[in-house]
Amino acid sequence: MTDIVISGTGLYTPRESISNAELVASYNTYVDLYNEENAEAIAAGELPPLQHSSAEFIEKASGIKSRYVMNKSGILDPRRMAPLLAERANEEPSIQCEMSVAAATEAMAQAGKKAADIDAVIVAASNLQRPYPAVAVEIQDALGIDGFGFDMNVACSSATFGIQQARDMIATGSAGCVLMLNPEICTGHLNFRDRDSHFIFGDVCTAVIVERAETATAAEQYQIVDSKLQTIYSNNIRNNFGFLNRGDESGIGKPDKLFVQEGRKVFKEVCPAVARQISEQLERLDIEPQQLKRMWLHQANLSMNQLISRRVLGRDPSPEESPTILDEYANTSSAGSVIAFHKHRSDLRSGDLGVLCSFGAGYSIGSVVLRKL
Ligand SMILES: CC(C)(COP(=O)(O)OP(=O)(O)OC[C@H]1O[C@@H](n2cnc3c(N)ncnc32)[C@H](O)[C@@H]1OP(=O)(O)O)[C@@H](O)C(=O)NCCC(=O)NCCS
Repeated sequence: MTDIVISGTGLYTPRESISNAELVASYNTYVDLYNEENAEAIAAGELPPLQHSSAEFIEKASGIKSRYVMNKSGILDPRRMAPLLAERANEEPSIQCEMSVAAATEAMAQAGKKAADIDAVIVAASNLQRPYPAVAVEIQDALGIDGFGFDMNVACSSATFGIQQARDMIATGSAGCVLMLNPEICTGHLNFRDRDSHFIFGDVCTAVIVERAETATAAEQYQIVDSKLQTIYSNNIRNNFGFLNRGDESGIGKPDKLFVQEGRKVFKEVCPAVARQISEQLERLDIEPQQLKRMWLHQANLSMNQLISRRVLGRDPSPEESPTILDEYANTSSAGSVIAFHKHRSDLRSGDLGVLCSFGAGYSIGSVVLRKL
């Protein structure tokens, strides 16, 4: 196959961030208000009282300390608990377009690419702000790129699936250079009134340039040695929001129209499946686990990443081998492993191998083996 490389990455980080303490204070105010407003029903045993959240629990259970958000005031308002993002006129750039242009600009500069060098734009994200026209086509227009663009969604694995799409398109000749973007506004689908999950997500956008090795001029390039995708149907992470919701008014606004998960089950079922996929992939490629210099894993839970790395490497990973960004960014869905790759690769030497791996709803697992050139 033609040698295909990642020649640039970009990261857009929102200006505002929320600490666990701030998030918990707002949640606990909401709980106190709810319990006060429903005091009679609670006293009569008709409603269970809501319980406070705790910053200590959040950090211990997940490793998350803070998250960046597109809007802080709306999320922290205990009477609202959702980002405050004004609708924009059709003539204005959409919010996902704006984030993507910022991340793309950095990735293109890193790869030394101009708009005229790019043939296709893929927007791969868990949530798209509208069904059509595709956000990718809007970004293509904003950046002045000819060719084509499309949106795709494989939840938390959207980026690795997007990288394989780009690689396949380049391998078959339908594109030579692809810009792949992950504008994740996860706070838009997070239920900030749900104690089990209100702390999980943050917002961000990542960008990746994938191209033929022969056109790449970037100082740093990573050959895509192999990519492997897997999906296994599960309802343990689910969101029933969709265009058919208005067909049944009784369901509109119900909690299942936002992110819902059985976190413990996800942990138990996904970790072994991810470790198995990476181990089998390395075996097929004749790569010994000890040869892996880095594991840029999906950033949902610190213990999950430690467990997966331990299973693959056969020992505890060092913090450098399995870098963590979720402490600062929380779970940013498909963008998490790309942020880890963007921020933690400059020390690698030519010939070093690493695996970029995502996992999440579907279930979906994507693992991309990279070699620094
Ligand atoms: C979500 C997650 C952090 C929760 O951690 P956990 O250790 O599984 O916690 P549990 O939900 O089992 O809850 C443990 C206890 O903490 C309590 N708890 C839950 N949320 C709490 C909160 N915000 N504050 C305080 N206590 C809380 C629970 O009520 C439970 O109490 P109990 O033992 O008295 O019943 C963890 O399961 C996880 O990260 N799973 C993987 C998720 C994942 O990868 N998802 C992919 C999404 S894209």
